[in-house]
Amino acid sequence: MIEVENLTKKYGNARGINDVTFTVEKGEILGFLGPNGAGKTTTMRIITCFMPATSGKARVAGFDVFEDSLEVRKRIGYLPESVPLYTDMQVPVYLEFVGGLKGVDRREIKSRVGQVMDDCGLNGVAKKFIGELSKGYRQRVGLAQALINDPEVLILDEPTIGLDPKQIIEIRSLIKGLGGRRTVILSTHILPEVSMTCQRVIIINEGRLVAVDTPQNLTAQLQRSQQFIVRIGGPEKEVLSEVGKINTVSRVAVKESGADGINSYLVEFKKDSDGGKDIAPVIVRKNWALYEMRPIGMSLEDIFIKLVTEEKIH
Ligand SMILES: Nc1ncnc2c1ncn2[C@@H]1O[C@H](COP(=O)(O)OP(=O)(O)O)[C@@H](O)[C@H]1O
Ligand SMILES: [Mg+2]
Repeated sequence: MIEVENLTKKYGNARGINDVTFTVEKGEILGFLGPNGAGKTTTMRIITCFMPATSGKARVAGFDVFEDSLEVRKRIGYLPESVPLYTDMQVPVYLEFVGGLKGVDRREIKSRVGQVMDDCGLNGVAKKFIGELSKGYRQRVGLAQALINDPEVLILDEPTIGLDPKQIIEIRSLIKGLGGRRTVILSTHILPEVSMTCQRVIIINEGRLVAVDTPQNLTAQLQRSQQFIVRIGGPEKEVLSEVGKINTVSRVAVKESGADGINSYLVEFKKDSDGGKDIAPVIVRKNWALYEMRPIGMSLEDIFIKLVTEEKIH
């Protein structure tokens, strides 16, 4: 549904995004994750036809964002970082107004407004002026205006930014309910957001893609460059030196000193080494006792920090 190919945007000499390539399948909710300044907004502005790329291509439903921008705009709902809301309009009046701008059929506009007010939980504030609304409700109005033309594709730029925890939960479940029928790209610099709402995650840092995968696979992928907790009964010094000698081990340290010389050790294996299998033979050969061995799961947050810091070193 969305195809982005070698997309690059330069702001003068400054980097915006660099050689970004990804696709989004129909009905998918894709998380676009990256720290501030990573290039999330830049990418979204190009996909939504707000700004041309320096080079590369982007297509929505087969239409080029540059050559067929009208066709693309028809199919897209966009919630920008800050929505231009008219504070002196009542909610349904504003939505009708935006619907008109977006070319929604006059005969259908009332029912569309009703529909998005239902979908976004806005019926309780139908009489209010936008200026009177809380930040959470304004964000719902922002979402409603993005949905007014019943778009196949929704592009949401940091939809939960500045909301309180209760409002965040409400907006997230709203967005989650939008998947399936619509294709959604959602940007965020908050990690739990992607694991909660998205089927697939793209991590972007300093204008480049660092990883594309499901939240589960990203976790699994980094577990292979693993850390294990290993509980061994044996003389501490010798355990440290023998385990440290294993080729695939990059680090070993005492995690917890137990009674009777049974310690928990943190053993870190080299990346992609599948080193978990190398440790048992040493323990057997030394005639120590093995009480426990388990990989430590990494949260997406750890992965993110890791990916981002690794990227910086290169
Ligand atoms: N209008 C602009 N002029 C110059 N540089 C810009 C402009 N907009 C964004 N940038 C730069 O492009 C990079 C990516 O920004 P942006 O896409 O806004 O990131 P994000 O949305 O992930 O925070 C940043 O280094 C930012 O400073
Ligand atoms: Mg941004």
